[in-house]
Amino acid sequence: MASVLVASNRGPVSYTVRDDGSLNARRGGGGLVSGLSAVSSEDSVWVCAALGEGDREAVRRGVAEPGVRMLDIAPEVYADAYNGIANSVLWFLHHHLYDVPREPVFDAAFRRRWESYRAYNRAFAEALADAADEGAAVLVQDYHLALVPGMLRELRPDLRIGHFTHTPWAAPAYLRMLPEDILQELLWGMLGADELGFHTWGWASAFIQGARIDSPQGYAEGVWPSGDPWRGVEHGRWDGPGRSRRRTRVRAYPLGVDGDDLLALAHRPEVDARLASLRAEVGDRKTIVRVDRTELSKNILRGLLAYRELLTTHPEWRGRVVHLASAYPSRQDLESYRAYTASVVALTEEINAEFGTPDWQPVLVSVEDDFTRSLAAYRLADVALVNPVRDGMNLVAKEIPVVSEAGCALVLSREAGAHEELRGDALTVNPFDITETAEALHDALSMPPTERTDRTKRLATAATALPPQRWFLNQLEALREQS
Ligand code: G6P
Repeated sequence: MASVLVASNRGPVSYTVRDDGSLNARRGGGGLVSGLSAVSSEDSVWVCAALGEGDREAVRRGVAEPGVRMLDIAPEVYADAYNGIANSVLWFLHHHLYDVPREPVFDAAFRRRWESYRAYNRAFAEALADAADEGAAVLVQDYHLALVPGMLRELRPDLRIGHFTHTPWAAPAYLRMLPEDILQELLWGMLGADELGFHTWGWASAFIQGARIDSPQGYAEGVWPSGDPWRGVEHGRWDGPGRSRRRTRVRAYPLGVDGDDLLALAHRPEVDARLASLRAEVGDRKTIVRVDRTELSKNILRGLLAYRELLTTHPEWRGRVVHLASAYPSRQDLESYRAYTASVVALTEEINAEFGTPDWQPVLVSVEDDFTRSLAAYRLADVALVNPVRDGMNLVAKEIPVVSEAGCALVLSREAGAHEELRGDALTVNPFDITETAEALHDALSMPPTERTDRTKRLATAATALPPQRWFLNQLEALREQS
């Protein structure tokens, strides 16, 4: 039994089966792993899904890491919940990614997938209910598990339940594309929590504004008392055993990076070696660095178009700059992601064919999951390009200023969560405006060294203001303070 519980789709460890049949465990990184390390592992449990065959085999063999509980959800249920709903519907809604003349289509097949999403959320709620001590604090993560707070509240009214959304939250009009009953189920799921956390006030207020229910089941409405720091949603349910009138607090916890940890990672010998080989490729040219998952919301294609426009309208940069782009694979089960990855590669080849010379390749793209190369590129960055169409936070925008050796100028989309904190020292762009982005790249490349250094220092300070452990503990303390 545990007094602190975390639930997320992807857990801190993943297994593969070796050729000899033994299991290989690989521990992941990320903010949550680092955040949870702030509490003793004896009192905590992390509930996550078995993602692949290796994980399922680990569950069957009972090879559990201490403090980790992996759920072996039937593969077809899992696929429909993860790919079919979380990544194809909720991710698209919150990032405003739909090609609206064609999508979304909410038909019978969608409703079958939604049932899987419900079953997958229920498996998490039951596992949490089973593992939690009386009065324990539970921190549920992200859009995959939006129904868990409501389900868990019914199973265990004694628990303190928080939910943190790592993505943006859809604007109210976009959210209302969902069928009304599904939208209400989603909202009731979230409102089961005592506290809802978002990376920024922008996303938190989108939630509050969109959380309107007026139905025979009950009501919900945002409350924002003037002069009172309490903001959230008031709601009441009139049906069933959950009959209640409650308030859910909504807050912003802007996740930052742990500067010391990141610098230590970036100065390991293998990163030094990669840096040396990248330097040899780049020569004395300037670098524009970007690092993303090949993710539709990251806007990699418009970033490349802006770079092409830079080379066209400012030909003085030809031969004097290299664009280092890491676009590592993600969600390749989804056709739209495979097509996007192919477009990134094709556009890169076009630009290299159009401008390249025997001794200069304008874009060096890597489509491998190669963290060592990314860190080496961070160290080499003169300019960082972070131009998502919409992004919950974007930690790359915070990491590059901490790691870059000569200081970097940050070209940053106004739609990235990180923009709320970094706007003062970044060059802000509208992610749809190629010409503005090209001009911002030109300004960034031309920025005087002292200005670049000063801005980078301030960016690094802002980036490290709320490192993962503090981010996690602040949420835990806020939950425990709830009366
Ligand atoms: C986003 C989500 C995370 C997720 C990550 C990688 O940042 O907010 O919850 O872990 O994408 O996505 P994946 O589908 O590979 O877990």
